[in-house]
Amino acid sequence: MKIDTEIFDSLLLNYQQRVNRTLDNWLPAEAFNPIELHKAMRYAVLAPGKRVRPLLVYATASALGIDLERVDGPAAAVEMIHAYSLIHDDLPAMDDDDLRRGRATCHIKFDEATAILAGDALQALAFYVLSHDSKMTDNCVARLEMVEKLSLFSGSRGMAGGQAIDLAAVGKPLNIAELETMHIHKTGALIRTCIQFAALSAKTLADDKFKALDSYAKAIGLSFQVQDDILDVTGSTETLGKPQGSDIKHNKPTFPSIIGLQASREKAAELHQQALHSLSIFNEEADILRYISAWFVERTH
Ligand code: IPE
Ligand code: IPE
Ligand code: MG
Ligand code: MG
Ligand code: MG
Repeated sequence: MKIDTEIFDSLLLNYQQRVNRTLDNWLPAEAFNPIELHKAMRYAVLAPGKRVRPLLVYATASALGIDLERVDGPAAAVEMIHAYSLIHDDLPAMDDDDLRRGRATCHIKFDEATAILAGDALQALAFYVLSHDSKMTDNCVARLEMVEKLSLFSGSRGMAGGQAIDLAAVGKPLNIAELETMHIHKTGALIRTCIQFAALSAKTLADDKFKALDSYAKAIGLSFQVQDDILDVTGSTETLGKPQGSDIKHNKPTFPSIIGLQASREKAAELHQQALHSLSIFNEEADILRYISAWFVERTH
């Protein structure tokens, strides 16, 4: 793989700006009633997150030669679900954190009820976008399959289920398999959705390519959360934009707490290699996906 950092970074920046515009367009204006709720939704979503999930939708679409207009809606929808999951994750009933994306968390800036409702409304808005956006695929079956994927992967058998496992595991010595199951659900599922959104936006896609992309998504979905766990130990609050040490403080089972820091780093590196291996049937059109996988395990925030 020929790594041209500058080209890939500018491509990713371009995708980030693209999804920011799309999100801004879909989010209700602050002037609309109920004003506080709309303010809270915009505050949480438009805060400076990495936009990892939309980037994956765009990068996969570009690897498959799909017009990016067709995936603007899916990219925005998955980021809305992610933003809702973060708002709820930070609530006192869950991780009880006061800093997110370098700013006060939604329930601190507004109040708990508004934060809960902002999450609820973002979840609904994501499905509205997926069912309403006119620039997406003209294949109604594919559109419905996107709704199906997002509902499955964000619900009790995906992200929300993973969050339930996370909360039930506080203070419990999980084994590696249980820890992986938790991470695959709470974080991996939405990352898998991103790749599937792009796959479903393709006019046709050979089965071996779909399987390769799905196996790539599974590897990076786990590596992303392993690195998130590592950064809770090694990062700084300032760089992370969220409180360093939150997992330790709340006695959460994480990769470093269960297998140690060094083995966690090795696990992340191994998952990156698995991701690269999954993409071996693709040529340079998938280099952006290879680059993203490397970034996931090298990132500092
Ligand atoms: C944080 O996600 C929560 C996890 C699933 C690990 P991100 O690290 O993608 O957070 P933002 O969107 O950049 O704020
Ligand atoms: C959250 O995992 C995953 C979600 C579904 C939001 P974490 O609790 O580790 O995420 P951070 O570290 O607060 O971003
Ligand atoms: Mg959490
Ligand atoms: Mg958290
Ligand atoms: Mg974390």
